[in-house]
Amino acid sequence: MTSSIVKFIYKNKIVEINNPDSNETILNYVRIKLKKTGTKEGCAEGGCGACTVVLGELKKNNISYKAINSCIAFVPSLEGKQLILVEDLISEDELHPVQKAMVNYHGSQCGFCTPGFVMSLFAMYKNYSSYKEDIIKDTIQGNLCRCTGYRPIIDAAKSLNKESRFDHFSRNKKITLDLLRKIKQRNIAIINDNKKYFAPKSVNELKSILRQEPNSKLISGGTDVSLIVTKERKDLNSLIYMNSINELNYIKENNSYIEVGATTPLINFDSFIKKYFPDFSQILKRYGSVQIRNICTIAGNIATASPIGDTLPLLLALDSQIVIKDKSKTQILPLNGFFIGYRKTKLKKGQFIHSIRIPLLKKNIFKAYKISKRIDDDISSVCASFNIEINNNKIKKIRIAYGGMSSIPKRAFNCEKILLNSFLSDQKIDKAKKQLEKDFKPITDARASKKYRMEVAKKLLEKCFLEVKQKKLIRINA
Ligand SMILES: Cc1cc2nc3c(=O)[nH]c(=O)nc-3n(C[C@H](O)[C@H](O)[C@H](O)COP(=O)(O)OP(=O)(O)OC[C@H]3O[C@@H](n4cnc5c(N)ncnc54)[C@H](O)[C@@H]3O)c2cc1C
Ligand code: FES
Ligand code: FES
Repeated sequence: MTSSIVKFIYKNKIVEINNPDSNETILNYVRIKLKKTGTKEGCAEGGCGACTVVLGELKKNNISYKAINSCIAFVPSLEGKQLILVEDLISEDELHPVQKAMVNYHGSQCGFCTPGFVMSLFAMYKNYSSYKEDIIKDTIQGNLCRCTGYRPIIDAAKSLNKESRFDHFSRNKKITLDLLRKIKQRNIAIINDNKKYFAPKSVNELKSILRQEPNSKLISGGTDVSLIVTKERKDLNSLIYMNSINELNYIKENNSYIEVGATTPLINFDSFIKKYFPDFSQILKRYGSVQIRNICTIAGNIATASPIGDTLPLLLALDSQIVIKDKSKTQILPLNGFFIGYRKTKLKKGQFIHSIRIPLLKKNIFKAYKISKRIDDDISSVCASFNIEINNNKIKKIRIAYGGMSSIPKRAFNCEKILLNSFLSDQKIDKAKKQLEKDFKPITDARASKKYRMEVAKKLLEKCFLEVKQKKLIRINA
């Protein structure tokens, strides 16, 4: 069934919006239409967390709570979900435990950031059974505070370990679950005077929309696409929202590779990949923020072809492949060669990324490093990734890829060549470092100078082999 009415749950009632403006952000809707001004606008680009709201989603017989940046999410993406705002935490004049903790531990001064912090902490309170320091720090990674400082906020979060986990959302859980089941996502097609928006629920429906609307822009998490509206102030006239396609929200594995469906949120992929490639997970921990990772996808990261897309050098080093589909065909392409120019890929009109295949290289050494100005919620100056197979102290196979060093994320072929089939020595590493000058001609921009980028790229190569040596995975002769 297809509908032009977006339905979601707010305060345990079903809200229906007929033909919403598909470019309106949830933030604007909440502040202007619902007149709930507790949710703030800071940066309007997903970077400060002032606009954080929580979405409840049906997950089997439970509700999963996701903090998101409402400034970069469009209203139709509320379809089938529960919207929770900072105003909704109070119940019968009683503050929520998260709000009480912020008061008791002096977690607020000017208060502009406070609703965002409260909502991020609320999602943590609901999703975890205990709140350790690393979970707390992850949770508030995407919330900026300029005056209180983080220590009192972290103390407030820690104090929740002593509080009851039963709040009014737990009390009303059955009602909410029934309502969520009632409004289970339908196909959405909104056609206004100048804007179209489609949210298919299956790959077949996606294919038929693509046949009719080949010029539409695909949108998954929207953490890149939405900025066209919020920052460039342009309209997106025809959108196809991918993230309602549950069929593409999966991770499976066989003996040779892991396959990640295109709509799998990055945060789910992170928990999975940790056991195979811990360094991949370390990079993802510093990828945007929880609010971003809750909705963004690897497929979106690949399709942006950004030279500083963080998963891209890692996927390149791992020899990943992408499964591309259109209305009738399936193609499997190596990621190497998929990026053809600055923010350009081989993807053609009418095609979409269906999934990503990552080879399982259990015997290889996999390393990845991200260098950015800030540790959290910052974009790379340089990102490097190494995938090395060693046999009898000799490098039998090597893949090296860098982000931030060229107009596209790219393998370091010259550097790989000099290391392949060699025993390692300090001289060899020096030679390999020198080859990076042949592989890359980085540019100077606001993040880093070309000189800095090249120096860092060389040092990361050196660091990789020093770590390999320290773990006695290979002998390096001086
Ligand atoms: C605050 C903030 C922090 C960020 N931090 C990082 C960071 O640390 N590292 C990093 O690499 N990036 C970062 N990004 C950029 C962005 O979040 C990523 O590129 C993200 O992976 C994009 O995924 P998405 O699902 O949101 O894509 P979307 O915004 O939905 O789409 C991005 C592009 O991919 C296309 N697309 C989406 N899905 C498909 C599909 N299935 N098939 C074909 N094309 C598709 C869209 O048409 C669009 O061109 C950040 C962004 C923000 C706003
Ligand atoms: S307003 Fe800054 S993240 Fe939304
Ligand atoms: S309390 Fe002022 S910005 Fe955080």
